[in-house]
Amino acid sequence: MKEHKFEFSFEVYDSIDELNADDQELLSEARKITGKAYAPYSNFHVGAAAKLSNNKIVTGTNQENASYPIGICAERVLLSAISSLYPDIPVETMAISYQGKKTKSDHPISPCGMCRQALQEFEQRTDKPIRLILAGMEGKIYVINSASQLLPLAFSSEELG
Ligand code: THU
Repeated sequence: MKEHKFEFSFEVYDSIDELNADDQELLSEARKITGKAYAPYSNFHVGAAAKLSNNKIVTGTNQENASYPIGICAERVLLSAISSLYPDIPVETMAISYQGKKTKSDHPISPCGMCRQALQEFEQRTDKPIRLILAGMEGKIYVINSASQLLPLAFSSEELG
């Protein structure tokens, strides 16, 4: 028997002022775009903004439906938009923020399992890690070097032959 260990480290910042100018801009976009979410059922508004390798910034928000499972998270809305607008262009960094009616937006949230899988495949097919900036409207900010670090032992397209 051999034991394998999974470890990763990430950066924690106290406020947006500690980020570099590009990251500040991207997080500001993510925070701003939360206002465009369609989330009348959860009242949890998520905004995501991505800086691509071609320097474009693309944004996305969560989109819900009265048939609840149809709802799509902001991260996957954004990945689909990027793939449609700029096929095969890698994402350098994605910032994610939120505003909820029932909770304070004062700490980072991190992508759900389904979004981690989608982010992982996007990284794999564009051959580029996606840096994640996770933050509420205030409070601490997490910076993670690659979305795949959040999904160890991921299932990947390689298994399909
Ligand atoms: N949601 C996101 O858009 N991204 C996340 O990282 C977590 C959850 C959405 C899905 C749903 O519309 C609402 O937030 C509540 O779960």
